[in-house]
Amino acid sequence: MDNPTVSGSLRYRLGLTLIGGAAVLAVLLFFAVRSYAVQVAQQGQDNILVASVTSMLDAAAIRDNAVEVDIPYAAFSMLTTPADDRVFYAIFQDGTFLSGYRDLGYLGPDAGLENIFGFANVRGVLVRQVSASRTLIGANKRTEVQIVLAQTQDALSATLDQISRNAALLGVGFFALAAALSVWATAATMGQLDRLTTSVTRRGPQDLRPFKNSVPQEMAPLVQSLNSLMARLDQSLSQSEDFIAEAAHRVRTPLATVRSYAEATLQRVDKEENREAMRSMVKAIDESSRAAGQLLDHAMITFRADHLEREDINLVELVRDLVLRMTPIAEMKDLSLSVQGDGSVPYAGDAILLQNAVRNLVDNAMKYGPAESLIDITVRAEPHPHIMVIDRGPGFPSHEISTLTLRFKRGQNAENTIGSGLGLTIAKDVAFAHGGGIKLENTLKGGACVTLSLSS
Ligand SMILES: Nc1ncnc2c1ncn2[C@@H]1O[C@H](COP(=O)(O)OP(=O)(O)O)[C@@H](O)[C@H]1O
Ligand SMILES: [Mg+2]
Repeated sequence: MDNPTVSGSLRYRLGLTLIGGAAVLAVLLFFAVRSYAVQVAQQGQDNILVASVTSMLDAAAIRDNAVEVDIPYAAFSMLTTPADDRVFYAIFQDGTFLSGYRDLGYLGPDAGLENIFGFANVRGVLVRQVSASRTLIGANKRTEVQIVLAQTQDALSATLDQISRNAALLGVGFFALAAALSVWATAATMGQLDRLTTSVTRRGPQDLRPFKNSVPQEMAPLVQSLNSLMARLDQSLSQSEDFIAEAAHRVRTPLATVRSYAEATLQRVDKEENREAMRSMVKAIDESSRAAGQLLDHAMITFRADHLEREDINLVELVRDLVLRMTPIAEMKDLSLSVQGDGSVPYAGDAILLQNAVRNLVDNAMKYGPAESLIDITVRAEPHPHIMVIDRGPGFPSHEISTLTLRFKRGQNAENTIGSGLGLTIAKDVAFAHGGGIKLENTLKGGACVTLSLSS
């Protein structure tokens, strides 16, 4: 049987795709959650910075023609963080530095209440800064106060670390869940395929009924073509079976008719040379009807063996019955057939096939055994039902013994005997169909011994 070439595994591919997809989604989820959290946290810090800078600007006033900023306590206290973040500020008047940290530069438009955010570097530390301005109107002048307020980001980065850890946990959890779902989905999908495979393989080789189980939509075309394939197979099998039965009938009947005419003519012919010719003719007819018979028997057995029709039989009776029918032929060669065995060997098998097999064995014993000798047929139930045929002839050619059951194979000792090389093949096929086998050996005295065993 040809095995299909296997290219990868569907289960593996499907599982890998799903789990790979889950991993990509988990990573995306991690980054999405983290960047959203960064935004929210930054927004929080910015809002406080704005509130603080606004309260500072509120405290700015012009007194005695000079700008005075009396920084309220609340402006700094609202910036307090658990990480004790440091706060820096710089105050400018119309762009001129008044007080605070010189490192902080004012970013933004010269006027207006717009708050401009940015990052700056104060003494090697990254700070978030907001720039805001306010226009003050004094007795005789307009002046603009600008304040830059900055804060380190220690608390913020601690929060972000915390959020990153949680986002990572979320990603891992998501991945684990999605992977478990992928495994489940793969198993559920492949389960459908497995079920179909099991129901195909569980069938016997002769079971050609269509599949009726419901299958998923995607598998329906496959099952449909499988069904139509089996329907065609079933049809051609039964056609061949009919053909064989028909052929057997059409070949045997006219041959029998010709033979009986030839026999009748033989009685009426007086001249010895004509009689000789008639005898050769009868012999040739016998040969061809035998060969045709065995060919058709073999074909018939191939079919019957596929769907064995078992019935309860007694093997001893079956053999006795057969021997009775073969006795006239045996007597022509002065052969005696003896049946020994247990009183009764009950067996459930196909009687027609079993008789055919034993007939071929006895036939061989009569053909290859010497005239005026004894053929022993033994039928026993133990250790398992078997039928043994022993003759007193020269036995099987020992170097060929392993190949004699092959189809059309005849031994060297068969040169002058009629035959088609199918007898032992038929016996072997029948034994196989009944769960048994056939064994060829030679007895110590040299005769052939064939054992046809059946399953118990
Ligand atoms: N009883 C026997 N004694 C010796 N040789 C045998 C015997 N039975 C079978 N053989 C050998 O086995 C071969 C195959 O037997 P078989 O399949 O019955 O074919 P056929 O009898 O048509 O030649 C025979 O040709 C013969 O050589
Ligand atoms: Mg034979």
